[in-house]
Amino acid sequence: MIPSVYNPLVLSVIFLAPAYPGAKIIGGHEVKPHSRPYMVSLQRRNGSRMYAPYCGGALIRPNWVLTAAHCEKPIASGQFLRAVLGGHSLSQNQKSKQRLRIIKQIPITKFNNRTMKNDIMLLQLETNAKINQYVKVLNLPKGGITDMKSGTTCTVAGWRKTKTSRYSDTLQEVEVEVIGRRKCNSKNYYNHRPEITQDMICVGDRKGRADSCQGDSGGPLICRKKYTGIVSFGRGCANAKKPGVYTLLTKKYIDWIQSIIDLPLKNAEELY
Ligand code: ARG
Repeated sequence: MIPSVYNPLVLSVIFLAPAYPGAKIIGGHEVKPHSRPYMVSLQRRNGSRMYAPYCGGALIRPNWVLTAAHCEKPIASGQFLRAVLGGHSLSQNQKSKQRLRIIKQIPITKFNNRTMKNDIMLLQLETNAKINQYVKVLNLPKGGITDMKSGTTCTVAGWRKTKTSRYSDTLQEVEVEVIGRRKCNSKNYYNHRPEITQDMICVGDRKGRADSCQGDSGGPLICRKKYTGIVSFGRGCANAKKPGVYTLLTKKYIDWIQSIIDLPLKNAEELY
């Protein structure tokens, strides 16, 4: 018997679960424009030379974006990936927007979509973003996050898909709450399928009213004003017993990021 998490059908449910019908980011609201100047929309140019958003991310250096490893895309010839910064509406041609080409995708290791471990990736941009009132870097948590107490309130933002399978045109945000790892691994929750590890954190809503969803992947989770996690996966969206699971920015990940971008960390206390 194949355990269900190894079953491709079940896996495709984890990844392709349709967006929750109704609201934009589930249970959330539109952000105050440019209140999250580190938010990045990752976009891929398709056949008709249009760019389609596929994931979120956070600007952590003028030329580096941190996102989820499962957001890696093959870069075929003629295909371009870009990071759009300083935007609030995806469709409007806002002067504040900066569009920078992604030249390198560096996942920490080859991402394993069976265990969902190590869902973290760096993207190198062709040029430095101009840091201004619309575009700013998000500081990494110095020394890494060991853990967040269950019940801690966090926020997550994104341009996730709406039920029409398009993206919300404006950036949405939602308040969510940390759910303890033990509870998250328990029978009625993920039941170790997959295992919620020390490098992951479950964050949702007890009543299943709030969540990130497809299209929000890679975006930053902010808890107690600290960059805490990266949108990784969930079974469906806004399912009380299957909360969103985020890559936790533990010391090992911070060390890995630093080893690649090789820059001293600024004091991470002041976030925004
Ligand atoms: N894997 C999804 C993506 O690629 C993110 C899913 C988050 N799901 C959730 N229920 N919080 O966009």
